Amino acid sequence: MAASTGHEKVEKNLGLMIILIILVISVGGLIQIVPLFYMKDMIEPAEGLKPYSAIELAGRDIYIRESCNVCHSQMVRPFRAETERYGHYSVASEFVYDRPFLWGSKRTGPDLHRVGGRYSDEWHIQHLMDPRSVVPESVMPAYPWLADGMVDGEDIKGRMETLKKYFGHPYSQEEIDNAPKDLEGVTEMDAIVAYLQGMGTTVKTVR
Ligand code: HEC
Repeated sequence: MAASTGHEKVEKNLGLMIILIILVISVGGLIQIVPLFYMKDMIEPAEGLKPYSAIELAGRDIYIRESCNVCHSQMVRPFRAETERYGHYSVASEFVYDRPFLWGSKRTGPDLHRVGGRYSDEWHIQHLMDPRSVVPESVMPAYPWLADGMVDGEDIKGRMETLKKYFGHPYSQEEIDNAPKDLEGVTEMDAIVAYLQGMGTTVKTVR
């Protein structure tokens, strides 16, 4: 029989093999994960990225309430088929002010991360009132009640204060104080359209 090699020893000793496997996975994992804590793209807000304005914040709440994220992702993946259809792939630094994030995991409808500026406000309103009037084969539900619902400015003011205090979103005191005035007479439809129009526009303009 050939002399026992190091390799043979490891293969026959389960305890040693487990330890070595854990070691290899740990080192490999650290090499993949640790640099993410230092990459600028991962830890700093994208250049020109601003926290959601009062009206966008209100629209985002409605987006969550209506569960738009169940059918729409907000995450353009770095594949050619996606970037040709939607635009620049999504980068981590664009989501710094997304609390909670709305990346989603299912696409019944198209990804919406780069939808900002693609259609007019009128198109969005028409589409949300009656999707099939603009896209005949659409299976998206209609949301006509958004035109009647009003946005609560005091509520959004409180939200901005909280985001600033606990998460460091850089709102000025003026922006916070003005929220109720800015949102006077604003419908839920206005708010969700403002949110959609701002979506993913930072990187599109920067790059
Ligand atoms: C049941 C799944 C479903 C839900 C829920 C849903 N959508 Fe859609 N959405 C679709 C489908 C399918 C399309 C593609 C057909 C169309 O344009 O209507 C679409 C298209 C869109 C588009 C056009 C995107 C593009 O690039 O052409 C926008 C904007 C949109 N939805 C916004 C919303 C918003 C805002 C909500 C929540 C108020 C919502 N959707 C809820 C399924 C859904």
